Amino acid sequence: MSQITVTGGKPLVGRVDIKGAKNLVTKAMVAALLGESPSILRDVPFISDVEIVSRLLQLHGVKIEHSADGVMHLDPSNVASARMIDIDAHAGSSRIPILFCGPLLHRLGEAFIPGLGGCHIGDRPIDYHFEVLRKFGAVIEELENGTRLSAPKGLKGAKISLPYPSVGATEQVLLTATRAQGITELTGAAIEPEIMDLISILQKMGAIISVDTDRVIRIEGVAELNGFDHRALFDRNEAASWACAALATKGEIFVGGARQQEMSMFLNVFRKVGGAFEIQDDGIRFYHPGGDLRPVVLETDVHPGFMTDWQQPLVVALTQAKGLSIIHETVYENRFGFTDALVQMGAQIQIYRECLGGTACRFGQRNFNHSAVISGPTELKAADIRVPDLRGGFSHMVAALAAQGTSVVTNVQLISRGYEHFLQKLTDLGADFTYSE
Ligand code: EPU
Repeated sequence: MSQITVTGGKPLVGRVDIKGAKNLVTKAMVAALLGESPSILRDVPFISDVEIVSRLLQLHGVKIEHSADGVMHLDPSNVASARMIDIDAHAGSSRIPILFCGPLLHRLGEAFIPGLGGCHIGDRPIDYHFEVLRKFGAVIEELENGTRLSAPKGLKGAKISLPYPSVGATEQVLLTATRAQGITELTGAAIEPEIMDLISILQKMGAIISVDTDRVIRIEGVAELNGFDHRALFDRNEAASWACAALATKGEIFVGGARQQEMSMFLNVFRKVGGAFEIQDDGIRFYHPGGDLRPVVLETDVHPGFMTDWQQPLVVALTQAKGLSIIHETVYENRFGFTDALVQMGAQIQIYRECLGGTACRFGQRNFNHSAVISGPTELKAADIRVPDLRGGFSHMVAALAAQGTSVVTNVQLISRGYEHFLQKLTDLGADFTYSE
């Protein structure tokens, strides 16, 4: 298990450059499976989620080259079934394999999906995915070590309505419907910028997709798709993470590659809290302008709301705001576990089962600890912490960098699932740390 020994209390200052979004790039790689010709994906970060998806694609015969400058070539000319035992070796490593279902059914008529992994931030069921796939005509068999799917009568377009605008289930529909026979109409779709970018990729491949008002997406199935050449949307979760790191450590970070439009909701909150930013052509400079930070009341939501992935790094900055902040998490029922470590470091955070500070959500009355009250400012003290998940782990690192004294943070390899060259970036920002495997 890798660990970082970090001496905090020093502002992070400098520049980081970010690449394509983890939550787009991995799906775009799966989309390449649908094409008859090779694809080129640009700005692909070197993160472990990309490595896992690469290995799974390679097992299915896709040739992949990922050059140092982030250009990935994917050649699906020889797609073939993989051995269950080889696929199963990736069980528990990621959530992306569930999105292989549609493309593999189209290419091979069958699919085997290993047990899923991903961050422990809620139950994260896949019932919507299975429901969607059944509507297209897939037959699903749940096995002890994974899921086997077939499509004896082929995949046919369907009318689908999602009970909640799930990002993954919307992607499942897109990746399955583009080559299904006939028209698919999806209501209750997620419309995150990463989904819009996936739609752009599929359109480049030859798909016919229209996004209507009120979360309705229509897809006209086509018999064949080609490869694509696409530069991935920047990682707005990583950009927001570094922005919060600048605020919490009273520093200044230029995030190269960040763009205003996809982050406008985050920028509003960042400003309300007392952070400052400057939009430039090639990125955004985030900084603490001095003075007290202000508390905020907000709830996380699906796009265009405040993203759940931004919540965790923001909470660290809010421990330094003067007054009471309230955050109501409405996307995941269990995403405040990471605050235990912050409390251990001296933060004053209380977690409630009630829906606080906003509208009632689907987790109210169900015993889920999904609202947080943060009282600040509190001085953070060093502690020994174990990284619990990707965004929570980043937040712990930021807390350790803001805290007085020397902290030991273990299990840090989890952070590399979503943050490329994380240690190098910390070095570039002047962090005082040592790393050991
Ligand atoms: N849900 C169900 N059933 C399903 C699918 C989802 O009940 O079949 C529920 C989930 O339990 C959750 C809610 O719907 O409460 C939203 O889940 P969604 O499907 O939208 O999330 P996801 O596709 O699993 C992606 C990102 C997450 C990000 C969410 C929300 C990837 C690989 N992951 O997850 O990113 O938080 O959308 O925007 O794209 C991260 O990057 O750290 C991360 C967790």
